Amino acid sequence: MQMSDLEWLTAQILASTKYREIVPELVQRIGAQELDKRRSLKEAVKATKNKLHQVGGAYQQTKLNYEKSLELLRETACTEPVEVAVSNPNELRASCRQLMQAHASTRERLPILDEFYETIFANLPPIHTVLDLACGLNPLVYPWLPLPGDVQFTAVDIYSDMLTFIQEFFELTGVNGRTQQRDIIGNPPTEPYDLILLLKTLPCLEQVDKNAAVNLLDKLNGRYLLISYPAQSLGGRSKGMVENYTQQFEALANGRNWQVQRFEFATELAFLVQTNR
Ligand SMILES: C[S@@+](CC[C@H](N)C(=O)[O-])C[C@H]1O[C@@H](n2cnc3c(N)ncnc32)[C@H](O)[C@@H]1O
Repeated sequence: MQMSDLEWLTAQILASTKYREIVPELVQRIGAQELDKRRSLKEAVKATKNKLHQVGGAYQQTKLNYEKSLELLRETACTEPVEVAVSNPNELRASCRQLMQAHASTRERLPILDEFYETIFANLPPIHTVLDLACGLNPLVYPWLPLPGDVQFTAVDIYSDMLTFIQEFFELTGVNGRTQQRDIIGNPPTEPYDLILLLKTLPCLEQVDKNAAVNLLDKLNGRYLLISYPAQSLGGRSKGMVENYTQQFEALANGRNWQVQRFEFATELAFLVQTNR
């Protein structure tokens, strides 16, 4: 049987070193859009790669060496559960901080890290289940979070290698965590969670599908949602971003019967939502 253009495009992209770790459904979704728009298969392949770079690769300009990173974590976390490691938290936190530099999104959060999570958790009831959607390297923030030892932490992204690393981090530090490789545009999770993190993610999903944020929020089942936006672009410009994203959030929240608290940090704008679910 002959391969369709979409099958060929998807196979081509997944064969390349830079994209082979990405969840195939997202490659197919973007590939189908680009095949519709472009004049040739070659142009569609190039445009699909560009879009995948925009929504994923651009945040990882210096890709983490996962083997070395695990060695560093092994030295600091040993095999002790996170509560024990956190009784001497400085070393583990220092390693996590160093590793979080490798993803632009967590790197931007480093200057506000303590303040960010302290402020958010001061406004939450006890949390037992957390879903970190489009997580990047944010699960490495676990040693900062005031969560009970048995909290169930689920981390979702499109990169299988990054998720394998995060799963190893959970195991090394005794976190009751698991990872899922998933395209949350086509396959949004619907299970109930106490807290769902959507950190700097909605604008990224909307680059692929302008209805992605609305559709995702319709499906998610979180008692609390933490939705944030960058207060500066990847290039460091910030003009008007806070106002624009405030308007975007308000449009999304409109008609949803949410209770919302807004927090403006130096590098991030955050909305803590109680959903009444
Ligand atoms: C702006 S970064 C945010 C990372 C993290 N939430 C944080 O704030 O540190 C966007 C993340 O979304 C992931 N991503 C992009 N498209 C996705 C999709 N369709 N489904 C799941 N994750 C996606 C990327 O791999 C990247 O890690």
